[in-house]
Parts: sequence; structure tokens; C-alpha cells
Amino acid sequence: MTDDKKVIVITGASSGIGRQVAIEMAPDGHSFYLIGRNEERLREVKTAVDDLGGKAAIGIGDVSDETNVEKHFNQIDKLFGRVSVLIANAGVGYFGNLEDLTIEQFDKQFDTNVRGVFLYLKKALPGMKERNTGQIIVTSSNLGLETSARASLYAATKHAVQAMVWSLREELKGTNVKAATINPGSVSTPWFDGKDVDRSKMLTATDVAKAFRTIIDQAETSNIDHIHIMPNR
Ligand SMILES: NC(=O)c1ccc[n+]([C@@H]2O[C@H](COP(=O)([O-])OP(=O)(O)OC[C@H]3O[C@@H](n4cnc5c(N)ncnc54)[C@H](OP(=O)(O)O)[C@@H]3O)[C@@H](O)[C@H]2O)c1
Repeated sequence: MTDDKKVIVITGASSGIGRQVAIEMAPDGHSFYLIGRNEERLREVKTAVDDLGGKAAIGIGDVSDETNVEKHFNQIDKLFGRVSVLIANAGVGYFGNLEDLTIEQFDKQFDTNVRGVFLYLKKALPGMKERNTGQIIVTSSNLGLETSARASLYAATKHAVQAMVWSLREELKGTNVKAATINPGSVSTPWFDGKDVDRSKMLTATDVAKAFRTIIDQAETSNIDHIHIMPNR
């Protein structure tokens, strides 16, 4: 079954990579459900998407709270009746030597980056399997495939979702429901606002949004596993 005008659900759509994926895909006339906690920024993204030819609605709330997930899927059901593409992208990162990271930072990262991904995947999969079509994309990281000093907990969350998606791909064998990750190196987004880092050598959010497009637009005969995208500068 082809699904040319898709319903694309994006968590972490108020900023950075999630926002840019919506803007990249909007001219194709898809429908979008944009999720985040910051209503004002989500409304700005919705206006941009609508102006570019998409049709957007917003869902406000913390992705790690299952009452929000329930509310969001009820709204998606009423508005659009299905999810064609789920982009589980919302994430936070705290960096430093392991002994200096706090328990609060541990909880926040695992709640957002792992529990938040699990909750949205769990809710999207039954409808996708029933319709035997759908694409899941999780924003992992190069740190979902490798490790680095000062990134122990963040890398642990990204390895966790990497394993989640690879196991899910095994479960989805023989169906037309696909799951993939995007694994970027550093991307110049508001993620780095207020941090003393050189952003000039980073990927742009547009570079990464184009990798999402490659997965979303892949042929029915293709099933991309992950896209590992690093800066070329
Ligand atoms: N930037 C990089 O270098 C880089 C590299 C590799 C991977 N990534 C991954 O890419 C993803 C997006 O990052 P970004 O660079 O676009 O950063 P960003 O500009 O800071 O955006 C993060 C997004 O996540 C949302 N978010 C965070 N916590 C949330 C929560 N508890 N509930 C709902 N939404 C939440 C934020 O929305 P609200 O504030 O509105 O809630 C925002 O829309 C993350 O998963 C990150 O780990 C980033």
C-alpha cells in the first residue's frame, strides 16, 4: 500500500533537527503532528510548515509522561486516523566525567532519550502493523555506535535506543513496517546555545533533515538500517 501524503509525527519538533525535518518535508504536502513542551516555538514551526504547503497540528508535553503520549495519539487518531512516519527525536544531553554527572541528569536523560522513545514506538506500532505499512526513525547519534570521554550517560542512552531499534527490526521482519536510526555527529542546533563550542565545523540541521528524507522517501523494496552522518569540515 502506498502512502504518498503521509502523516509524520515528530517528537522534539520545536527546535533543531526535529523542526528542520518538518520544514524539509512540508513542501511535499504531508500532514505533521509536532510534539514538544514549548508551545510558542511549536506554534512557530506549525506556521512555517503550513506556509510551505504542509498541514500541521501540535501536541504539547513531556515525552516521558505516558498521559501525554495517550493524549497525543488520541489527537492524531481524531485528526489524521493514522501514523505513517514516527520520528522519535526529542532528546537531552549532559556531558562531563562520569563521577561529576548527577542522578538528576541520569534520570532526565534516560527518561527523555530512552523511556520517551519507547513510549511513542509502543503506541505507534500496533496501527502500523495492522495497516502493514509505516516507518519509524529514532534520532540516535554517532554516540549510539561509538563512545567518547565525557559522554558516558548520553552515549548509554543512545546505545540503548540503538539496541531497541535493531531488536525491533528483527521483530518486524516479513512485514512492511520499517525502523531505522539516524546517527549524526555534531549538528549546529540550539542544543549548543550558550555553550563555548566552535559550531563552524558542525553539520547543519538541513544536512541531517535530508538524511531523514532519504529514509522517508526510500522505495518499498528498500529498508535502511541507519544513516551515520558526520561533518565534512
Ligand atoms: N545537535 C547535535 O549535535 C546532535 C547530534 C547527534 C544527535 N542529536 C540528537 O538529536 C535530537 C535533537 O537534538 P537537537 O540538536 O535538535 O537539539 P535541540 O535543538 O535542543 O532540540 C531538542 C528537542 O527535544 C525536545 N525535548 C527535549 N526534552 C523533551 C521532553 N522531555 N519532552 C518533549 N520534548 C523534549 C525539545 O523541545 P521542548 O524544549 O519544546 O520540549 C526540542 O524540540 C536529540 O535526540 C539529540 O540527542 C543531536
